[in-house]
Amino acid sequence: MGLDVENIRKDFPILSETVNGEPLVYLDNASSSQKPLAVIEAINNFYKTTNSNVHRGVHSLSQRATTAYEATREKVRAFINANLEHEIIFTRGTTESINLLAATLGKGHVHQGDEIVISEMEHHSNIVPWQLLCEETGAVLKVIPINNKGEITEESYRNVINESTKIVAICHVSNTLGTINSIKAIIDYAHEFGALTVIDGAQAPAHIPVDVQQLNCDFYCFSAHKMYGPTGIGILYGKETLLDELPPYHGGGNMIENVTFAKTTYNKLPHKFEAGTPNIAGGIGLGAAIDYIQSIAYEDIGKYEDELTKYGREQLSSISNLRFIGDAADKSAVFSFVIDGIHPLDLGTILDQQGIAVRTGHHCTQPLMDKFEIPGTVRASFAFYNTLGEVDRLVNGINKAVAMLSR
Ligand code: ALA
Repeated sequence: MGLDVENIRKDFPILSETVNGEPLVYLDNASSSQKPLAVIEAINNFYKTTNSNVHRGVHSLSQRATTAYEATREKVRAFINANLEHEIIFTRGTTESINLLAATLGKGHVHQGDEIVISEMEHHSNIVPWQLLCEETGAVLKVIPINNKGEITEESYRNVINESTKIVAICHVSNTLGTINSIKAIIDYAHEFGALTVIDGAQAPAHIPVDVQQLNCDFYCFSAHKMYGPTGIGILYGKETLLDELPPYHGGGNMIENVTFAKTTYNKLPHKFEAGTPNIAGGIGLGAAIDYIQSIAYEDIGKYEDELTKYGREQLSSISNLRFIGDAADKSAVFSFVIDGIHPLDLGTILDQQGIAVRTGHHCTQPLMDKFEIPGTVRASFAFYNTLGEVDRLVNGINKAVAMLSR
């Protein structure tokens, strides 16, 4: 049937805002997407009608809050096709999910001389936790190089993954390049060597369906706020047997079975990894975001975003001296680019004056910037509520900025 973008836009109140006197063109979705009314209202209603702590109270309100919060766990399970509900751990987001893994895998799974494999396109949050783990254990960080189009080739990962590899941690979709990696093939290859696979899925579920059983990844991490949900809540998916083997991450309430001063025993999954009062409203908001995405259908999202990608590429290519950073065959609607002689920050500032929100800088991927020998890029990242007309506004905005800055 196709996407009814004009109607979809009405679901997102912020898209009717003006910024610097111009209608907002929001093209910073890879950083954080906007929220539909359904998500905003779910959070609002929780505080208005249900606010109470979860997993603790005998009173009705607490039970209602627990039911609403736990309903999201089942929604997430179904959303990513996990086998079991308790394989879904609530965290603060992708970053915390990866840190949880690096910290807990360090206690037993990784030893001196073991190798941890990442790729050249990783976000700092899929680099630094592994560097910390390497410093702690004496393991060695190995990096899969990417080609000039911003792709991981089969040859490149086969050259790096080997018998010494204990963990392969790769992004599903690159936040800076938009590259959609062939993670299934990488996961299968890593498993041939008995390595564990961690997928940084931060940029994926807003755009493409995720099926963790089909991928057969060991762990998959993502954040609600990049998929139309609230900030401060995210997911760590892990296979039950692996999560069971890992020690707890944070200590505190809810993660325990029994505490004495002599010894503490731990709660079962998923609570073992969920110390303290969680982001209850956030969890409920994430549930509403999943409902929202599912009310649209990925097939339509995919077709429409492909159209945006094709049109965006064509139109941006018409700008003289514009060079794309990342031009993978399989990519999402993310355009990183530089323009000769123009600093990305200056360009971003002049676009902002025209109501156009893009991100500039290294996008938390400094090693990737080093590879391309640039300090940063301008990045325009699209969502299904963006329009072809907004691509035109971006292109006109850039042309105007270039004219001003070249004077
Ligand atoms: N990871 C986010 C981005 O790419 C913050 O902008």
